[in-house]
Amino acid sequence: MRQLRPNVYAVGAIDWDRRMFDELIPLPDGTSYNAYLVKGSQKTVLLDTVDPPKVNMLMEHLDELGVQKIDYVIAHHAEQDHSGSISDVLNRWPQAKVLTNAKCKEYLIELLRLNESNFEIVADGQEISLGDKTLKFLITPWVHWPETMVTYLKEDKILFSCDFFGSHFAPPPLYVEDEALAYEAAKRYFAEIMMPFRTSIRKNIEKISALPIEIIAPSHGFVYDKPAFILNAYNNWSSDIVKNEVLIPYTSMHGSVRKMVDHFVDALTIRGITPIQFNMAEADLGKLATAMVDAATIVLGCSQVLAGAHPNVAHAAFVANALRPKTKFVSIIGSMLWGGKMVEQLTGIISNLKAEVIEPVVIKGFPREEDLKAIDVLADKILVKHKEIGIA
Ligand code: FEO
Repeated sequence: MRQLRPNVYAVGAIDWDRRMFDELIPLPDGTSYNAYLVKGSQKTVLLDTVDPPKVNMLMEHLDELGVQKIDYVIAHHAEQDHSGSISDVLNRWPQAKVLTNAKCKEYLIELLRLNESNFEIVADGQEISLGDKTLKFLITPWVHWPETMVTYLKEDKILFSCDFFGSHFAPPPLYVEDEALAYEAAKRYFAEIMMPFRTSIRKNIEKISALPIEIIAPSHGFVYDKPAFILNAYNNWSSDIVKNEVLIPYTSMHGSVRKMVDHFVDALTIRGITPIQFNMAEADLGKLATAMVDAATIVLGCSQVLAGAHPNVAHAAFVANALRPKTKFVSIIGSMLWGGKMVEQLTGIISNLKAEVIEPVVIKGFPREEDLKAIDVLADKILVKHKEIGIA
């Protein structure tokens, strides 16, 4: 339990050992569920809860503070890593009301089977007084679910942002000390769950930018006492700006695609383009997603399995399609032997990407000299495209 300001406390839980989120996202550094307690002169409010396996840690922190009564539990987001312990809080303080927006209430009833009588609904821009402190609610949809909202504590100029601006990292010092570390963790988090909603993110940044904010307190990872650090990063990541980079997720079963990728990486490097390769047999999905935030181009390097694309590369394509990065160009290099639908499969999977397809280079067997020349031509085409958009 730590204090942000007088009568404003971080009461959540650190999850040192968690290694997967949503059974999908690797958590190499664990995570935290940052619930907060605001004690006003008249009312006490808990902002979010914690993932249910960590509810005891939340309760211990509330006990350490001698909390006798909770008037409101604010639910910024219905996902259970923040909402999952609301029932435990209501069991202990049955008079407490859950303050949230109408959509979040609907989701909480579905997910937690709470009753209508548990809720009080707040509207966008509405304020409530806790006595000497005032909370203002702002609806910020799609960061990263449709119902997400944030709370601004006016007197202390703190924005409680839930997942918005979060990072999976444990145990963070309360505030950012190592900016490079915090930047990478926040970028990875952005890539994993926020990236598909860049347009909504930009709108929501604009909305909160009207507030004088001194602290941004998300519900995962670092708290920011220099808000410009994370706001500038989000402005950049959510923009349409791309870098002179080619991301190459690939799989090679017997060395043919490996040879093509090696040659392609050299060809790009000679042309001043930064290649970022991921062997999909062992790639960290979070690192792959992070690399998608900036890369102007994605080139899938694919072996043939049976009559089509290698499933590991199809998985990378599926992830890209789901995360919808701002990638401008895509292509494929691959090797097959008896034909198949590799190109059709992969281009079909990435249909969400608003990217121009540059003609793939798919060969038979181990690359010959002319195949490597075709890869050089692909690198030339990518250089031309990158020049056209002013990044090379
Ligand atoms: Fe941290 Fe979307 O929950």
